[in-house]
Amino acid sequence: MVKFTDIKGFIFDLDGVVTDTSRYHAKAWGQLADKLGVDYPGLGDAVKGISRMDALEMILKKGGLENNYSEAEKEALAAEKNANYVNLIQNMSAKDILPGMADFLAELKDKGYGISLASASKNAPKILEKIGLSDYFTKAVDPATLKYGKPDPEIFIKGAQLLDLMPAQCIGLEDAAAGIAGINAAGETSVGIGDPELLHDATINFTDTSQVSLANIEKAMQ
Ligand code: G6P
Ligand code: MG
Repeated sequence: MVKFTDIKGFIFDLDGVVTDTSRYHAKAWGQLADKLGVDYPGLGDAVKGISRMDALEMILKKGGLENNYSEAEKEALAAEKNANYVNLIQNMSAKDILPGMADFLAELKDKGYGISLASASKNAPKILEKIGLSDYFTKAVDPATLKYGKPDPEIFIKGAQLLDLMPAQCIGLEDAAAGIAGINAAGETSVGIGDPELLHDATINFTDTSQVSLANIEKAMQ
């Protein structure tokens, strides 16, 4: 394993790592799946880290509907999900920052670590604004520039480039199995936050964000 002293930067997923928006994504997709008549147990976990259009394709496939809609109709369905989602995040504020993450970000900034954002969400800038953390994430990968979604490493490689660091000098934080796969494939150290069984490929596992600190990461890397 890479040594803790080699680490110079941290690359953050947003939904489910910095703030608890995963449940809103799950709810908004659930509303659309219901409307389409698609029964999808485990939908919430399945869409974690997955881009909007890829998540729609997953749901359509689950219901055997993948050939039922034109591209324009799919765009409309994705826009409908996004409208559901935007509605749910309307009243977000600093109280929606996950436990410990504001302190962790302050600690990183204080100690001079690089910080970048690797979220697949086109709503990320709006959410960071609402929860008051935009100033930490001046370096953010624009998901519109990506050729591939997670589990492809592209977003995490770009996250390291924004920090002028080699992947091996970076730690990526993720709550999604697809994200952990992307971090690992990028050659970075992965921190999985959530169910360790679901995130078994992570280099380091924490069951929730309150455990995420430089001291605990250093301990786990010894
Ligand atoms: C994150 C979430 C996914 C979501 C994706 C796209 O990765 O974990 O559940 O589908 O962002 O979000 P967007 O806000 O662009 O629809
Ligand atoms: Mg996530």
